[in-house]
Amino acid sequence: MAEHTRRSVLFVCLGNICRSPLAEGVFRWHVERAGLSDRIFIDSAGTGDWHVGDPPDPRAQACARRNGIDISNQRARQFEVGDFDRFDRILAMDETNRRDILRLARNEADRRRVRLLLDYAPHQPSREVPDPYFGGEAGFQHVFSLIDTACRNLIAEIRRELVGG
Ligand code: 4NP
Repeated sequence: MAEHTRRSVLFVCLGNICRSPLAEGVFRWHVERAGLSDRIFIDSAGTGDWHVGDPPDPRAQACARRNGIDISNQRARQFEVGDFDRFDRILAMDETNRRDILRLARNEADRRRVRLLLDYAPHQPSREVPDPYFGGEAGFQHVFSLIDTACRNLIAEIRRELVGG
C-alpha cells in the first residue's frame, strides 16, 4: 500500500554543499506548490565526506535566495548504503557521482533506483549538472536553471503516479 501513496527522492552530488542542496531546495519548492509535501520525502547527500555537517556553500545559499528559496538550514551528509532502502529515486548530478553510488549498490534493485537528474531534462544538451565549486556566480545560476528544468519534469512525473492525470 505505502509504495503506491508515497515517494522518496534523494539528490546526490560530490560535496553536498552546492548542487544537491540546490536540487533539494528547488524540488521541495515544487513539491510544496503541488500540495504533495506529506507524500514525498526529500533529502540530499554527497558521495564524499569532506563537508559533512556543513551548511550549503554561501554561493549556493545566495543563488537559492535570489530565486526565492531558503536552503540555509540544510546540513551536508554522506551517501550511505542504507539510502538504497530509504529512497526510491536516487538522482546523481554527474556521471562520477552516479558511478560512485553504483559502486555501493548491493543488487539490481539498488541499481534500478539510480539515475542522472538530467534524465528528467531530456532536451538539455548535457546529461550532467556541472560542478560549480571552482567557478563564479554565473555557474551557480546555470546549475540552478538546469536543476529547475529537471525538477519541473520530476514533479510532473511523480504527480501523475500519485494523483493520476
Ligand atoms: P558539490 O560541489 O558536489 O556540488 O557540492 C563541490 C563541493 C565541494 C567540493 C567539490 C565539489 N570539494 O572538493 O570540496
